[in-house]
Amino acid sequence: MPLSIVIFGATGDLMQRKLAPSLFRLWLGGFLPKPFNVIGFAKDELGTEEFQAKVKEMIAKHLTVSGEYIQKFVRSFRYQQGFFEDTQGYEKVAETLGRSDKEWRVCSNKLFYIAASPLHYKTILKNLAASNMAEPCVPGEGWTRVAIEKPFGKDLKTAQELDELLGKLFAEEQIYRIDHYLGKETVQNILAFRFSNSFLQDSWNNKGIEKISVRILDKEGIGERGDFYDGIGALRDVGQNHILQLLALFLMGNPETFDGNSVGKKRLEILKALRIPQGEEIRTMSSRGQYEEYGKEKNVRAGSQTETYFKIQTEVSLPQWKGVPIHLESGKGMAEDLAEVEVVFRHPTPCLCPPASGAGGREDGKHYKNILYYSIQPKEAISIAFWAKKPGPAMVLEQKAFSFDYRVAFQEEEFVDAHERLLLSVLQKDQTLFVSTEEIMASWKFIDSIIRGWEENEIPLSLYPCKTLGLSV
Ligand code: BG6
Repeated sequence: MPLSIVIFGATGDLMQRKLAPSLFRLWLGGFLPKPFNVIGFAKDELGTEEFQAKVKEMIAKHLTVSGEYIQKFVRSFRYQQGFFEDTQGYEKVAETLGRSDKEWRVCSNKLFYIAASPLHYKTILKNLAASNMAEPCVPGEGWTRVAIEKPFGKDLKTAQELDELLGKLFAEEQIYRIDHYLGKETVQNILAFRFSNSFLQDSWNNKGIEKISVRILDKEGIGERGDFYDGIGALRDVGQNHILQLLALFLMGNPETFDGNSVGKKRLEILKALRIPQGEEIRTMSSRGQYEEYGKEKNVRAGSQTETYFKIQTEVSLPQWKGVPIHLESGKGMAEDLAEVEVVFRHPTPCLCPPASGAGGREDGKHYKNILYYSIQPKEAISIAFWAKKPGPAMVLEQKAFSFDYRVAFQEEEFVDAHERLLLSVLQKDQTLFVSTEEIMASWKFIDSIIRGWEENEIPLSLYPCKTLGLSV
């Protein structure tokens, strides 16, 4: 069945970095139906040819592939200039879709991909429906689906409103809520690592684990994304979604199977059990910062109080996790690029702990720690710090690591980019790697409580120079 993809926000950051290269790779791999069309919708004054040239650049910037192939691919791209709030553009998109269907002599499948700022989601959805594009043109002949990027809403209230609106326009199985972290190979591997290997199972609770940290750090600042980022901030941008999803995958109980529904239910149990800060607790359990240069970034309001960094300490109020501190941290303009989960294991007492040499040893002879580093980026690796006897006459220990590097262990060609995987899942009607509405609401409940705590307690923003180490709580 032919396919049309309409991308709202087709000149933006997501399209440039992720969607254009992913669509190209899908096409190259033969995963896009023939024929297909992509209609880019954005406010920029462009014609179709200029848009095609832009898409070509977007692809060439990220992939080394012959220009000839790219040229062939971009011929299927059209452009529709329009403003999200103005119905005219949508009517023109509907006409273009109608023309393609006429040419193809069928009511084709249609995917609406919303890659714009969340501030526009409601407007786009309403206008999409008003121009009769949400419904298939012939009942039972081609499907229509909508893919929505995170952050889904700005808080619990707006997320609920958005959900209500979506529910009016689309059936649940037509809606794909994207958190691209769930499409990453290493993130999917968390399930395999935890549940298909038995050696960790008995210690995966508060008896075996002392603390857990989840961090996503970016060296870069916000770049050209001021429009989107200012007023949203780090906590909503990555805290509400990527960070909490990673945490949920690490702490969730055994799912019945690896299918999306069973896994989603287990993630939800964790998200619902996140401890909400009470009163002034927020002062000791969190901090927020902004990189010094932030105010000078494009499209950032003067005096903006948007945080570009946060660190939160919380807990999961389930019997098996009680007492395990959880640190969540993310920031822009950091000293390194890093997405990682760190799990520190307890050592049973009493401890057979001879003296240690080098970093990590405890002079007081108490606990030696085993630490699991589950690294998602830039290295895709798992490393477990353990203790080994240093050769020599004395029983002196040294910290070493068991390491597994995903890219070394598997062939490069086997890797699929997150957006590529997610796009394919949408086309295949597979909800496994998407987030449920209940998970989104549970995450917002927690995030809202932090933001409210910051506002009510007037938690100040600490300024830090870009590309330095983060703040510490
Ligand atoms: C996006 C955020 O969802 O995720 C960005 O909007 C963040 O601010 C990015 O940098 C991180 O994703 P990745 O795949 O680059 O680690």
